[in-house]
Amino acid sequence: MPLSPKSFFRAVSQIPEWALYILYAERLYVCGIIGYTGKGNAIELVVQGLKNLEYRGYDSFGYAWLDENQVKTRRQVGEISNFNADGNAKTAVANIAIGHTRWATHGGVEERNAHPHLSRNGEIAVVHNGIIENHAELKRFLEKKGFRFGSETDTEVIPHLIEHLMDEGDDYESAVRKALRQLKGRFAVLVLSSSHPKIIAARNGSPLVIGIGGNGNFIASDIPAFLKHTKKVVFMEDGDIAVVNETVKLLSLRDGSPAERETQHINWDFQQAEKGGHDHFMIKEILEQKETLLKAASQGNGVIERVASMINSSFGTYIVGCGTAGKVCLTGTYLFSRIAKKHVNFAFGSEFPSYQHFIKPNSLLIAVSQSGETADTLEAIEAAKSKGAKVVSVLNAIGSTMQRQSDISIPINAGPEICVASTKATTAQIAVLTMLAYACDGRIDEGRALIEETAEKISEMLTGEYLANARAVAESLKHNESMYIIGRGLNYPIALESSIKLQEVSYIHAEGFAAGELKHGPIALIGKGTPCIAIVANDETRNDVIGNATEVKSRGGFIIGISPENHDVFDIWLKVPDCGDASPIANIIPVQLLSYYLAVFRGNNPDKPRNLAKSVTVK
Ligand code: AGP
Repeated sequence: MPLSPKSFFRAVSQIPEWALYILYAERLYVCGIIGYTGKGNAIELVVQGLKNLEYRGYDSFGYAWLDENQVKTRRQVGEISNFNADGNAKTAVANIAIGHTRWATHGGVEERNAHPHLSRNGEIAVVHNGIIENHAELKRFLEKKGFRFGSETDTEVIPHLIEHLMDEGDDYESAVRKALRQLKGRFAVLVLSSSHPKIIAARNGSPLVIGIGGNGNFIASDIPAFLKHTKKVVFMEDGDIAVVNETVKLLSLRDGSPAERETQHINWDFQQAEKGGHDHFMIKEILEQKETLLKAASQGNGVIERVASMINSSFGTYIVGCGTAGKVCLTGTYLFSRIAKKHVNFAFGSEFPSYQHFIKPNSLLIAVSQSGETADTLEAIEAAKSKGAKVVSVLNAIGSTMQRQSDISIPINAGPEICVASTKATTAQIAVLTMLAYACDGRIDEGRALIEETAEKISEMLTGEYLANARAVAESLKHNESMYIIGRGLNYPIALESSIKLQEVSYIHAEGFAAGELKHGPIALIGKGTPCIAIVANDETRNDVIGNATEVKSRGGFIIGISPENHDVFDIWLKVPDCGDASPIANIIPVQLLSYYLAVFRGNNPDKPRNLAKSVTVK
């Protein structure tokens, strides 16, 4: 059931500040862009801003500035966090600059593919976040006009197209508008020209927010890029173009008419998006899980009960997600079966289109996502909608594409999750699905009480002593190149999620199995000392998992038991509280900690795993 406009606006006005942040920070395509113009040192401000946007992409970066009416650029492969702009800042104190931090989509990680990209005459520089779907066609057109391309990116068509339109007689601003109108796809673009000391910005599907400062104006993908300098912001909307110098002029990209957008004051606690004294976001976010579980549980009954009644009356409910969110969905199928005696079908977002043939107009699709922008999950939603099914999303990023495409969304209220590896969003998603399963059985209050109790109980794992023990265990395992994780029932998906966590930050080959499946093949992989994490819940699966762990041990395996109680078969015991049906929440936390410390011991940056980005917006 879609929200009425009135209830939509009531809901939006109740969105907490952090959610507004996520709304703009986590949307759409990865890559971060920033521009500054004013009295400050533009290069320094842009480089600093890019450092704050780095979670959006970190394989290369670059910036362009104006130096005596000439566009100068610097581009480099690698992370910007260790880069010092002083060299440039001393030789060139620019008052206007644009910059980009990249997660490669078109073209490899090479300097020539890093942004900014320049026009043929070198007078126009462009940074871009998004994907230009018709770039090949535009490239062919421009090549016929004599333009040559120095990169493999889709972005490079933009500066060339602007130059071409100016050659045809358009003035600068109208050439930019005309060029951008020819682009198909989603984009946020900043344009700098040698002869016009202003930044032109345009938004179509990728976020852009203007920061109005006393000493100059900013425009960026995301508020933290400039939050230290101003909290006065204007959120651009799709189809807006902004001309930014000492003033800000907002226009419609379509016809150049003025666009009215409200200036807002962000009263947002910057600490939430900062490490707050921790070495990494990952550990900070792991340690926030007591509060995030309480927030997930604190929402009113209304939306959860509405979705529960949709599940109860649907002709088949399908639950989809990708990566960690996919493992949460699989956990959901066990929760619905166990708690509500309901059959819910799971598919990964990328598999759902091949699995959708059962969908009827009275079917229901539940999409689970932190970012609300994962392309594979969005495609599943599209497939379900094309059959007339209703769509519910369980989301951290309120206001994301997924929310706009859903009939109803349930917020998980986890707050900004900056680390690429999901931790607190994972447990908040499981909490919401647990409450939903209880609501399907008419026992929502019991479900909420269980999550609140679990939040209290897991705080015993977020203490210095527990962390020190997890760290010591990680140190003893740091030289292993393979690990296995086993679990049954509710904790089989947690074994799978454990493997993702270990893989993405420690780069150790880790595989999760249904404990009973090991003897059907994978046990051949066990040799002397092979580490195997056994997730042993205090439920009907306990004796069987212990039995499977014993089979591993008798073949030389080294057993790390995650369980409320110790057992002789464990070589190492990581104690967890007994949380009943919420055991998946408690059981993933020690693995999150092990993964974090393993990453640190192995010299990896857990916040920025190689080859990954926070939201995967490509198929
Ligand atoms: C989580 O640790 C991973 N980085 C990844 O698997 C993630 O869960 C997946 O890409 C789905 O993202 P979403 O929740 O934003 O849709």
